[in-house]
Amino acid sequence: MNELSPLRPQLERALFLEDMVAGLSRTPKATPPKWFYDAEGSALFGEITRLPEYYPTRTEMALLDSAGPDIAVAVGPGRTVVEYGSGSAAKAVKLLSALAAPAGYLCVEIDPGAARATAAEVAKVFPDLSVRGVAGDFTHLEGEVAVGKAPRLGFFPGSTIGNFPPEEAARLLRTMRKHLGKGAQLLLGADLIKDRAELEAAYDDAAGVTARFNKNLLVRANRELGADFDLDAFDHRAVWNAEDARVEMHLVSRKDQTARVSGETFAFAAGETIHTESSYKFDQARLEALATAGGWRIEKTWIAPDHPFALTLLAA
Ligand code: SAH
Ligand code: AVI
Repeated sequence: MNELSPLRPQLERALFLEDMVAGLSRTPKATPPKWFYDAEGSALFGEITRLPEYYPTRTEMALLDSAGPDIAVAVGPGRTVVEYGSGSAAKAVKLLSALAAPAGYLCVEIDPGAARATAAEVAKVFPDLSVRGVAGDFTHLEGEVAVGKAPRLGFFPGSTIGNFPPEEAARLLRTMRKHLGKGAQLLLGADLIKDRAELEAAYDDAAGVTARFNKNLLVRANRELGADFDLDAFDHRAVWNAEDARVEMHLVSRKDQTARVSGETFAFAAGETIHTESSYKFDQARLEALATAGGWRIEKTWIAPDHPFALTLLAA
């Protein structure tokens, strides 16, 4: 969890290998989405946020603008903002600009380059603010990331919470609650259930950027784990699973084939998939259940009407 640790790359590689081997050994094959985000994956996600089909980023940015004054009143002055999975500084800059006298800013981001760049950008825009970027996994925060003494406002935008199945999402909110401490608040961005066509287009854009983002998992495994995935032998698929209220991303094997990952061989039948990401979507009832299971209560919710998306202020 230390951005300066020289052991970090080796440790990361070992964890990536462990997750890939475990994920490709289970039936059906499924891997955790956090491994998308190396430098290339973060850049591809940045491209995704600018695609016409990918409404969540634009929508949440506009909602931060319109609800900013209200959020500032509900939060009050003097809190340290702790952002989880920041990606870029864009949303933090909007939130910090809206708040009255924030005490500091910390981001916890798995991609070290993104953590550094976000902290540098926030420090540039707010030269008098105490700012820190930590390269680390926000699912393993317990006692490892010091936050300072001021009361905290957690910030978890982008509907990244939706990349976790309900039980894991609740566990993550409990981890954040503990990390943020007494009297904390958490501003949570959550994408809402909408039309299948709009959802599937957002995860399968015409320019093929999301397909490249999805395949970047295999590109990264080939480079970092010495795997030999044939990139042309997998297709990107995004499908709305209405029963489970999630968009699923898969990599679909185009033929019977094998791939080696660090000495282990994995067989794929034609049409077999690796489930690489779920993006759960919410309604009010699901958000309330999640908040309660995560040890929070909902103080206030702001909803963007055009492409329904919610910013929810939770209190510990
Ligand atoms: N918050 C930004 C980015 C969302 S993309 C936005 O709203 O647009 C998800 C971000 O979370 C990426 O930057 C990714 O690197 C980071 N991330 C994903 N899993 C993570 C984890 N387990 N720990 C820390 N950061 C993580
Ligand atoms: C980061 N996360 C909330 C994005 C999402 O919408 O699930 C990641 C993403 N996957 C495909 N496109 C964007």
